[in-house]
Amino acid sequence: MADSRVVSELLHVITQELKGVVESPRREAELLVMAYLDCDRLFILTDADYVIEDCEKLLEYTARRKRNEPLEYITNRVSFYSQIFYIQEGALIPRPETELLIDEVLKCVNRECDMLFVEVGVGSGVISIVLAQHLKKARFIAVDISTDALHVAKKNIDKFALNERIELRESNLLDKVDEKIDFLVSNPPYIADETILEKNLSYEPQNALFGGEIGDEIIRELTTLTCKRKIKNFACEMGYDQREKISAFVKQFSDAKIEFYKDYSNFDRGFIMSCGDKDEK
Ligand SMILES: C[S@@+](CC[C@H](N)C(=O)[O-])C[C@H]1O[C@@H](n2cnc3c(N)ncnc32)[C@H](O)[C@@H]1O
Repeated sequence: MADSRVVSELLHVITQELKGVVESPRREAELLVMAYLDCDRLFILTDADYVIEDCEKLLEYTARRKRNEPLEYITNRVSFYSQIFYIQEGALIPRPETELLIDEVLKCVNRECDMLFVEVGVGSGVISIVLAQHLKKARFIAVDISTDALHVAKKNIDKFALNERIELRESNLLDKVDEKIDFLVSNPPYIADETILEKNLSYEPQNALFGGEIGDEIIRELTTLTCKRKIKNFACEMGYDQREKISAFVKQFSDAKIEFYKDYSNFDRGFIMSCGDKDEK
């Protein structure tokens, strides 16, 4: 390919390159060009004759995509809850079903609440950021065991100007959080260690995906911490097949109540657990 090409020609070339590799080659070609030019879709549709002087980088993007690297890591953009977040390798790409976890939390609280939320496994920061946008008086401590993830979360917290209300900490679970927590939220790793994953998942951080031999080990630790530390509310995402085991595990805590919610495909996807008397809040 020559060094400079017009947008329409590039879109055609990239679409052809991605055929048979990705499900929607034309759409992905558009997303790659949009990310490269930092423009919106309207621009590439109406300025099809715009000359891109140096196509090398775009060719490199296309080659990476052909090797199954997720589009989000190539473009450093991910859409979540109708907003664009920064993403890079080292942090999990947020999934659409995690938007439901946020919706479930928002159903439990008053928008004016001034609670302290703690998120375990902040990753790119999307959960704490969207919650902070909706709950303007709440404060957040968001922890992760991965410094790479914390770096990405920091970029997003800066982007949305939420530094005043979201504090990041490097911590294993709640080890570095001594404060009294009103609401614990987490989308922890919950896949069983030996699971063989699709090829494109190999680009994502393994400590964001695998939760232990069975898969629900971190979830169980978090439910235990919830009751030990008398945290009134705990919202958590989980695997579609983990309901029964988690339900049985939580039965040991006499004052715990748990309600499960389903995802867009009607699979069990998470739960809200309360521990102790909610009225004491
Ligand atoms: C499934 S990702 C979720 C990321 C983000 N919250 C989201 O929903 O897109 C799980 C995150 O938990 C972090 N993590 C794994 N084990 C942890 C631990 N023991 N303590 C704190 N964070 C942990 C991983 O580094 C990863 O960022």
